[in-house]
Amino acid sequence: MDSLDTALSRLPKVELHMHIEGSLEPELMFELAERNGIKLPWGSVEEIRQAYEFSDLQSFLDIYYAGADVLRTEQDFFDLTWAYLERCRSDKVRHTEIFFDPQTHTYRGIAFETVIEGITRALDEGREQLGISSRLIMCFLRHLSAEAAIETLEQALPWQRHIIAVGLDSSEKDHPPEKFQAVFDRARSEGFLTVAHAGEEGPADYIRQALDLLKVRRIDHGVRCVDDPDLVARLIAEQVPLTVCPLSNIKLRVFDKLEDHNLAELLRAGVCVTINSDDPAYFGGYIGENFSATASALNLSLADIDRLARNAIQAAFLDAERREDLLIELDNWRERCELGCG
Ligand code: HPA
Ligand code: ZN
Repeated sequence: MDSLDTALSRLPKVELHMHIEGSLEPELMFELAERNGIKLPWGSVEEIRQAYEFSDLQSFLDIYYAGADVLRTEQDFFDLTWAYLERCRSDKVRHTEIFFDPQTHTYRGIAFETVIEGITRALDEGREQLGISSRLIMCFLRHLSAEAAIETLEQALPWQRHIIAVGLDSSEKDHPPEKFQAVFDRARSEGFLTVAHAGEEGPADYIRQALDLLKVRRIDHGVRCVDDPDLVARLIAEQVPLTVCPLSNIKLRVFDKLEDHNLAELLRAGVCVTINSDDPAYFGGYIGENFSATASALNLSLADIDRLARNAIQAAFLDAERREDLLIELDNWRERCELGCG
């Protein structure tokens, strides 16, 4: 292992863009299908992995929603979340902010309560047993109606203490942020923070809409901002964080290859970019693999890595004390790297 790999494996990480349903590994999918008496459209774990060849976002979402059908009980949501947290432990993720998509489940007749209780029980145990702090972000599916999003927000109100923010995911094309302005207004008035996927496959204008109409604190993906230089200047001036997911962008053909990714260009221009995994079970890697593949494809320096990790700590929805603790951990890591101990 060379010294950058060693440094990356020891880097204290913060993840800000990870869909918990997208961490469902084929092995667990099979186990849950069996436990719940469900017949999957695939015959084996290998067959599932072979189906993970995507041409765009929609081709992925079709498989992702099919896979999520095995999630039925509170224990299923617990097991899913716990498996992700164990990965966090081995990747040195110290804080994570995960998305969940309640509509993927309530539309199948699974109670909101079942979903949130399983996820939050695992997050609580992760905090106690693994020392991993976390936040939960509820996403609205943008291919569904604005009315359905309002209904989902209302269902979430009794659980608000567990949910820091609302977000927007699923098929981006033809589903602009403006469609959800009213529900985001309502969410903010109830005290939720806001984020949104924008500028993944959709145009730079969707990033502007997310900022101006949805008043988001972060943009998820946002890589298409480069089509609008004035927007890039604004992102830098306002230090709007972008939660970039490099391996996802390759799997969903946003860029042809990792060497073509614009992350380093944005980082060096002063945009507050971060590295995240998106749907790690589907896209070939968790945050650790995203860091190492990106560092090698884009020749990232130790200073670049430090900046990415620092950006994520600054962009996280943390209280001041935890933020300070994480910054100290990062300073210690940097110092150790500079002493040449990896
Ligand atoms: N983009 C949009 N919606 C999603 C994604 C994504 O990468 N993953 C899960 N839902
Ligand atoms: Zn995403």
